[in-house]
Amino acid sequence: MKSSVKVTIHASQFPEKIRRDLLASLRTRQVNHKFHYDSVKQTQKWLALHQVYSPSRNDADCAATYGRAFGEAANQIKAGRVHVAGLGCGGGQKDTRLLKLLKAGGKKILYTPCDVSAAMVLVARAAAICAVPENNCFPLVCDLASAKDLPSLFTQSPAPRAPRLVTFFGMIPNFEPQQILPKLASLVRPGDFLLFSANLAPGADYAAGVEKVLPQYDNPPTRDWLMTFLLDLGVERGAGKLHFTIEAGGFGLKRVVARFHFQRTGRVEIESEKFTFRRGESIRLFFSYRYTPVLVRKILARQALEVRGQWITQSEEEGVFFCRPIS
Ligand SMILES: C[S@@+](CC[C@H](N)C(=O)[O-])C[C@H]1O[C@@H](n2cnc3c(N)ncnc32)[C@H](O)[C@@H]1O
Repeated sequence: MKSSVKVTIHASQFPEKIRRDLLASLRTRQVNHKFHYDSVKQTQKWLALHQVYSPSRNDADCAATYGRAFGEAANQIKAGRVHVAGLGCGGGQKDTRLLKLLKAGGKKILYTPCDVSAAMVLVARAAAICAVPENNCFPLVCDLASAKDLPSLFTQSPAPRAPRLVTFFGMIPNFEPQQILPKLASLVRPGDFLLFSANLAPGADYAAGVEKVLPQYDNPPTRDWLMTFLLDLGVERGAGKLHFTIEAGGFGLKRVVARFHFQRTGRVEIESEKFTFRRGESIRLFFSYRYTPVLVRKILARQALEVRGQWITQSEEEGVFFCRPIS
C-alpha cells in the first residue's frame, strides 16, 4: 500500500467556498446535504448507518438487482477501455462491484471516485484498487452541485477518448432534480453510458409508498447522524426536537424531510458571523425524494437521457437504470 495518495481537490471544495456554503445553509435554514458528510466522524456514522439500513448491503435481492444491471452495462460496453466516473461514490462498494465485473470481462479500467468528502474518496479508492491498478485511480473531491466546469475536469483524464461509464447511485434523492441533472447530463457524452439508481416509493399508490418507507429515515442511527451537524456547531441536543415529515416537491415528487424545531433559543457562531435560532423556528437538515420508475424516466428524458434497461428490487424500494444519451 502507498504511504501517500494524490487526490485532486476542486475549487468547489476549497475552504473559503465551504465556509460560504456553510454560512448560506445557516442563513437560509436549509442545510446543504454535503455538510452531513464533512467530517471523519460523520463519514464513519454514515458508513455504519449504510451498513445497517442500505438494502444494497443487507438485502440479497437488492444486491442481485444491482448485479443484473452491472452485468448488462458490462455487456453493452464493447470498447477495451472504459473510464468509470463514480459520482458521489461514498464508500465505493457499488462501484467496486462494477469494476470487478469489468475487470473480469478483460477491460482496461480507469476510475475516478468523486465525492464531496475526501474521506469517502479515499475509502472508495482503497476498495477499488483490488480491481483497478493504483495508477489508474484518480480520486477527486468536488461539489457536483456547484462546480461549473465538470466536463473539462473529466476530460483532463489520461484517457479522454475512452468511453465513460458514469455511476450516480443513491444521489438523486438528496438534490433538487433541476439543479443536479443538467450537471449529470453534461458528463454523459454521445457514446457514453450512465448507471443511475434511485430510492423508490413501493406499490401502486405513490403517497402510501412514501409513508411506508418513513421508518427507514426516522430511526435512532439516522437521527444521530443528522444531528451531528448541529451538535458540532454547538447547538445543544435539548434545544429542540427533530421531526420527520412528508412534503410535496416539484415535478409531482414527494420527499421525506427532517427538520430540527427549536424549543428554546439556539446560537451558532462561525468566527464573526452569528446566527440566532429563536424558539419556534426550524432548520431543514435533510430531504430525500422518493421516485417511481415512471418519474425517473421522465426526469431523465428532460435531459435527453434515455433509460434502456431498468431493474427494480422485489421490495420495489430501489431501482437501477441503465441509460444512454438520446442521439
Ligand atoms: C447517499 S450517499 C451515496 C453513496 C454511494 N453512491 C452509494 O450508493 O452507496 C451520498 C454521497 O454523496 C456525497 N455528496 C453529497 N453531496 C455532494 C455533492 N454536492 N457533490 C458530491 N458528492 C456529494 C456524500 O458525501 C455521499 O458520499
